[in-house]
Amino acid sequence: MAPGFPVPLQGLVGLLLLCALPWTEGGKVLVIPVEGSHWLSMRDVLTELHARGHQIMVVAPEVSIYIKKEDFFTLKTYAVPYTNQGYKRTITHNFNLVFETRNYVKTFFKLSEVLKNISTTVLKSCRNLLHNETLLRHLNSSSFDVVLTDPVLPCGAVLAKYLRIPTVFFLLYLPCDIDSEATQCPNPSSYIPSLLTRLSDHMSFLQRVKNMLYLLPLKYLCHITFTPYESLASELLQRQVSLVEVLNHASVWLFRKDFVFDYPRPILPNMVFIGGINCANRKPLSQVCIEAINILCRIYFLLLTFLLVF
Ligand SMILES: *[C@@H]1O[C@H](CO)[C@@H](O)[C@H](O)[C@H]1NC(C)=O
Ligand SMILES: *[C@@H]1O[C@H](CO)[C@@H](O)[C@H](O)[C@H]1NC(C)=O
Ligand SMILES: *[C@@H]1O[C@H](CO)[C@@H](O)[C@H](O)[C@H]1NC(C)=O
Repeated sequence: MAPGFPVPLQGLVGLLLLCALPWTEGGKVLVIPVEGSHWLSMRDVLTELHARGHQIMVVAPEVSIYIKKEDFFTLKTYAVPYTNQGYKRTITHNFNLVFETRNYVKTFFKLSEVLKNISTTVLKSCRNLLHNETLLRHLNSSSFDVVLTDPVLPCGAVLAKYLRIPTVFFLLYLPCDIDSEATQCPNPSSYIPSLLTRLSDHMSFLQRVKNMLYLLPLKYLCHITFTPYESLASELLQRQVSLVEVLNHASVWLFRKDFVFDYPRPILPNMVFIGGINCANRKPLSQVCIEAINILCRIYFLLLTFLLVF
């Protein structure tokens, strides 16, 4: 037993300390956001963290549509090798193309090109962040308590692992079930429907086959999209690093999902479902959204056929 307090008193001191925690100095949070809706959801959380006395630093590319300087966080930007105009064109203008044609084959090829362009652009941005030694040294010496990042583009995840800072993931979804792989949660495709299959957790034999086949094109796309991040991580950490290893650095996974929409699946205690957070600013689903989902399903089916035939 430690000298000083007798046992009951020790417990009491501990309890008092715990109670006092909310009033002690706030933590230092490093935020590596992802553009678009990913950022808009995270922004709501940052206002609350700020209100509770935490210090927040957001590190983002200098060219961005939504991530702007605000009074509840410090924004640190880094240079990127593309212009504001080019970026806006890549991100917003191109998506409208999807609606301009009724020809799914054309749409499919156009969308592939758009996605490739977007993925190249964000990779360039990530490379500039991870290659900026001055900025990395500054972040390392700022002794952050925690990194908050969306791993859908694993740039922040790579950085957090490199800086060895405990990490909280804030995400809607990771493609190809990489999250199950990284957390080693069972993910039986006989029971868990894949994205865009419109299947339920009760599947006939043929439906299970369909469920497995639907995973193939996604796996291929994920391979293309994520391999460069593995290379960046390996370069930075100076050893071979897999994406799974980068992702299993996370201490907590906050999923912006709810079992109202998703089928139950096995999870770990550090995976928390916070889907309600997206209801902060609620609006009815527009017809455009519903149409977009229909188009996506059809394009995805096409991609699958394409991959199976060739
Ligand atoms: C690195 O980041 C710093 C701080 O954000 C910025 O001022 C500097 O221009 C960047 N250096 C390069 C080479 O991009
Ligand atoms: C993709 O990028 C290239 C070069 O940056 C550009 O010429 C092309 O128009 C882009 N395509 C789409 C669909 O954005
Ligand atoms: C961060 O700084 C510490 C202390 O100066 C140093 O030991 C460590 O190697 C640095 N880490 C990185 C990733 O630069």
